[in-house]
Amino acid sequence: MNDDVRKYIYGALIVFIVGVSAWVGFILLSSCGFSLTCKQGEMTVERTPIPTLFPATLPAMETGNGAVVVSDQCRVAAVDLVGAWVEAGSPEEDAFQFTDVNGQNCESTFAEVKPLFVEANLWYAGSLSCVSCHSVDVAVSPAQLDLGSYAGMLAGSRRADAESKGTDILGSGKWQGSLLYEFLSTSKADVPGHTESVSDLLIFAGTPLPVSAATEIPAPTATAAP
Ligand code: HEC
Repeated sequence: MNDDVRKYIYGALIVFIVGVSAWVGFILLSSCGFSLTCKQGEMTVERTPIPTLFPATLPAMETGNGAVVVSDQCRVAAVDLVGAWVEAGSPEEDAFQFTDVNGQNCESTFAEVKPLFVEANLWYAGSLSCVSCHSVDVAVSPAQLDLGSYAGMLAGSRRADAESKGTDILGSGKWQGSLLYEFLSTSKADVPGHTESVSDLLIFAGTPLPVSAATEIPAPTATAAP
């Protein structure tokens, strides 16, 4: 082979190798700087513009007489809420009281009881609303019972027509003995719409009553060491 040709080949090879190493070096330097940690190659961290942690120094909410409110709603079994309303004489407007699952004294009104009979998908996933069967028209409603309104609930079941009253489903204010309690708390395999007991549904309802001074835990007193 001619020496000139050999020179050209070597020359081209050297230029190529120098070019490649310069290129790799440039990429390395621009993404890693002079260290090998390569921080510039990492993904940027995205942060929410809203602070998600609240300062621990935020003062606890206080009611009028200085009691600290733990939660602004009470937690109660839906059946117990209806029960408390019935036991209080089923008032349409006036508030009634109940004790929630945490032992708090709470207050609610019929406005929070009514949705339990009107809303679907409430007692369990896929449950029908009570009114979808026990509708306004007592002529077609099973057990001739209208659960769609306050008046309908008080008028009861087995009604001859829209004007007359029937069997009191509220047990004259005695919850445990009422038809309504029975149909909510026991499953009836042969009655469509009542094949599942719905007594363990817990809901948020009502507002806690302020803790009265009498029920407040007394401050600990120092006892003399023996
Ligand atoms: C799928 C339709 C259906 C749904 C939904 C339904 N029920 Fe019923 N309900 C019935 C049938 C049927 C009877 C029995 C009627 C009979 O015995 O003649 C009945 C009976 C009752 C009775 C007894 C009345 C009596 O005098 O014997 C009460 C109380 C009652 N239902 C309340 C409710 C409540 C509360 C809900 C909602 C949680 C509800 N029902 C949802 C169909 C339904």
